[in-house]
Amino acid sequence: MYPVWEVPYLTAGGVLALIATFHMLPSHLATSAMWLSVYLEGKAYREERPELLEFVKKYSKFLLVFSYVFGSLSGVGIWFSATVAAPRGISGLIHNYVWGWATEWVFFLIEVAGIFLYTYSFDKVDRRTHLTVGWVFAAASWTTMVVIVGILTFMLTPGRWLATGGFFDGFFNQTYWPQLLLRTTAMFALAAAFAVLVAARLKDERARAEVVRAAGVTGLAGTLLGAACFAWYHASLPAALHDVLDALLTPALGRWMLYPALAVGLYFAVLAFKPLRVGTAAALGAIVVLFASVFALERARELIRKPYLMPGMMYSNQIIGADLPAKGVGSDAGRFARTGILAAAPFVPEGLRTLGDSNRAEAGRMLALLECSACHTLQERGLRPLPRLVRGLGMDDPAAMTGFLDALEGYPYMPPFVGNQAEKEALAAYLVALARNGR
Ligand code: HEC
Repeated sequence: MYPVWEVPYLTAGGVLALIATFHMLPSHLATSAMWLSVYLEGKAYREERPELLEFVKKYSKFLLVFSYVFGSLSGVGIWFSATVAAPRGISGLIHNYVWGWATEWVFFLIEVAGIFLYTYSFDKVDRRTHLTVGWVFAAASWTTMVVIVGILTFMLTPGRWLATGGFFDGFFNQTYWPQLLLRTTAMFALAAAFAVLVAARLKDERARAEVVRAAGVTGLAGTLLGAACFAWYHASLPAALHDVLDALLTPALGRWMLYPALAVGLYFAVLAFKPLRVGTAAALGAIVVLFASVFALERARELIRKPYLMPGMMYSNQIIGADLPAKGVGSDAGRFARTGILAAAPFVPEGLRTLGDSNRAEAGRMLALLECSACHTLQERGLRPLPRLVRGLGMDDPAAMTGFLDALEGYPYMPPFVGNQAEKEALAAYLVALARNGR
């Protein structure tokens, strides 16, 4: 809904997805790396092995720069882009989950203080204190995931929240536990992959073998358990989401969700048995491959949310499609059908509020921006380009196109057209012209 952030070729959601993709590696590493680190630190103390400590120091410095500099910056980037891409969606989320985020930030602050304390107090405080800092930091970082997953899964399956509006009804929804465990197991696989990368540069051969073996075992366990959690997660999805998944999951995306994880599992198995075979290039390769899998999973999660931003309530284009009495929120659909969306939506440019012969083409474009541009670019190329898709329908008269807009609801992944008859016809005429001459 206007104000629309129109990003050519990519769409606003595409920008958000790019930043979120970049955020995935550092953020998941942040939640997991410290567990491996404190485990090895404890072992180094117990067995008096300074060369193991060498690894722990390197690893924590890597974590500080990679996760807490790049991870934090991209995290803020997600907030900025999400706020511009979907102000109404973010507002809805904040009104429900402000205390969720407040809680997450408390733990995040502990994390940030923790990583600096941990990295810079080696050999400066006694061993016990140092380990305690590590454990507290590890627990706090995982707790941020415990909180965020509640909000993320709420945006997928809000469950009883739709009836009650209750904080925990939405938070502990039907996909919460499977997704939390899926992310938790995957995060250990990631921590292991990065640990191998850091360990590959250790000079001491015995320490290198030991760290790589520990990482291999952790990684293998993470991948195997992750596969089991994925099956559980898949089974926990409601029927409507399975319909969208069946309609939108391409064979390629399905393959990307599975094969890279398999390859990385094999890699960890080899490392567990032959730890000295490790090399920096292979370690980097494993990270890239693992990332491909995580990326495909996140992409699939975004796909199955369609046509919603907040399922059962707000569509991806920020139009509210259903009443939500528990929150005192009313549907836009009926209201916009009566008054027209151009007249009633906030911030529509003055000249386009009332539809007439002189502004029909421009109003049609405005309607496409309002209702379609969350998922389609209006350019010839890019993300689900409207000109090409409309051409694919093979309809080149506005009446047939109006019929298509009437039938939008039949697609499991697209919201219905919202507005009055004249607006529907203006949009149809615009789409036909767009398909014909790209404008
Ligand atoms: C919630 C996201 C979303 C919104 C909003 C949306 N669409 Fe789509 N649309 C999709 C997806 C996903 C596809 C499938 C694309 C593909 O197969 O590559 C699609 C496909 C299409 C197709 C091709 C259909 C076919 O059967 O081949 C057309 C035409 C289309 N959309 C038009 C529109 C128009 C017009 C609007 C605005 C009134 C709109 N869409 C709004 C997500 C959306």
